Amino acid sequence: MADFPQIRAAWQRRRAVVREQRLDAWRLVHGAADGMEGLSVDDYRGRYLITVEAEAWLEDRTGLEAALAEVQEELRPAFAPQFFWIANLPGHRAVLPAAEPERFEVVEDGARFEVHLGEGPHTGIFLDQRENRRELRKIAKGRRCLNLFCHTGAFTVAALQGGAAETVSVDLSKNYLAWLERNLELNELEDKPHRVVATDAFVYLKKARRRREAFDLILLDPPTFGRGKDGAFSAVRDYGRLLSDCAELLSPQGRILTCLNTRKIRANEFRSLLKDGLKPWGRKILKPGAAPPDFAEAPGAEPPLKAFWCG
Ligand SMILES: C[S@@+](CC[C@H](N)C(=O)[O-])C[C@H]1O[C@@H](n2cnc3c(N)ncnc32)[C@H](O)[C@@H]1O
Repeated sequence: MADFPQIRAAWQRRRAVVREQRLDAWRLVHGAADGMEGLSVDDYRGRYLITVEAEAWLEDRTGLEAALAEVQEELRPAFAPQFFWIANLPGHRAVLPAAEPERFEVVEDGARFEVHLGEGPHTGIFLDQRENRRELRKIAKGRRCLNLFCHTGAFTVAALQGGAAETVSVDLSKNYLAWLERNLELNELEDKPHRVVATDAFVYLKKARRRREAFDLILLDPPTFGRGKDGAFSAVRDYGRLLSDCAELLSPQGRILTCLNTRKIRANEFRSLLKDGLKPWGRKILKPGAAPPDFAEAPGAEPPLKAFWCG
């Protein structure tokens, strides 16, 4: 690993946690925090997703793959690693020719998730939400949960495994909802009380407020920019309104997990958006969500994923 000593160092920093927590899918290289600005590498059971945001990392792809293969030799000696590259460069976003696309499963804390590699940046599971899924699983028992912008349902799986009384999962994309259903089946949760709603989250909220629905747990994790039935929305501009609509549906002891994944605003600015949405309902920020250790930032840097529990 002479050419890429940072890879060995990144592995050494994570080895104990990967082993202790038996992580199947985790981040090996986290950009500047690992001395490799513009590069991130995620390990999905021996398949690496390599995301490049600086051209220089494309110069020695073979060398980088060889360094990653050495980590895999220690972790899964019988498995030949595969490499999936995504170039996310200014004005140029592409999935680079690499291994054949693959669909397979990863396991996290006993939950099984279908992942897709080689088809783009969305693999089916957001690895930086691992600790929030854990917290949700701990507090879900007997609770009625609303998973807005639910994607492939990783939070829904965690809530049902934690014993949620009911889950309602909302997303615009029928593809992601079908994927969510497959994730429920993988975990034998398909007969648990869950509902899947293919609609705009803003439309769902409007109807739920009219019906005076109440939820004990709400997961609010919108994309930074999106398109709904009422036109484009920008999470930074619209977060306060979105959160206020959610807070109206919250039961007295209820909790909302608020998330936003962007470097465009800092955590303190996000906190003030949250306060705007919570104040009319007498709610407040309770505590930050936890970031997994494999996503630790460089000193002084802020993680792109901002998450807070509110109630
Ligand atoms: C950041 S992902 C959510 C990740 C999810 N919380 C998880 O942990 O897996 C955003 C999701 O919002 C969905 N989406 C985008 N605009 C939407 C809208 N207006 N209404 C409902 N869903 C929307 C996308 O299809 C995508 O699945």
